[in-house]
Amino acid sequence: MTNDTVAIYPGSFDPITNGHVDLVKRTLRVFDKVIVAIATNPDKDHSLFSVEERLRMIDEVFASLQGRVQADSFHGLLVEYAERKNSKVIIRGLRAVSDFEYEFQMAMMNRRLKPQLETLFMMTGESEFYTSSRLVKEVVSLGGNVSGLVPDNVLRKLQEKFKR
Ligand code: PNS
Repeated sequence: MTNDTVAIYPGSFDPITNGHVDLVKRTLRVFDKVIVAIATNPDKDHSLFSVEERLRMIDEVFASLQGRVQADSFHGLLVEYAERKNSKVIIRGLRAVSDFEYEFQMAMMNRRLKPQLETLFMMTGESEFYTSSRLVKEVVSLGGNVSGLVPDNVLRKLQEKFKR
């Protein structure tokens, strides 16, 4: 039996960016552990990186944090996954106001499905608030430089994927 507080940070993480990393580190100021949980849906998967590649990149990024961050993947409803992990909290990041409507809808639906589970929103760090996995992929695919916006291991993987 452990009294550790565990927060679930769900997402696609295709790939993890420095915005995500900042959010995980700030979450660790409040919770003992964070599970970075990749939602998988084989029927609707247009991801650049496989789940295994994404898990490995996340593990590498947080390797120095003494097991306080765990990378995992799940299929199905997030609220059920959180229950299986004995977590009462979902963390989501908010960048601009444009994120709000989508996040609000998801939080309300999750609350309806599992009222005892809370969604906590954290503001993304100011230097990362314009970063998104989608934009990072687009910029690299067109030959642009995203160093500083993603961890170094992710940068290398992105460059390999789009090597011409
Ligand atoms: O990084 P993303 O793509 O914005 O993350 C969205 C995610 C993975 C949090 C959301 O799609 C999700 O929770 N998927 C799991 C399936 C589920 O529970 N869907 C109902 C959400 S209200």
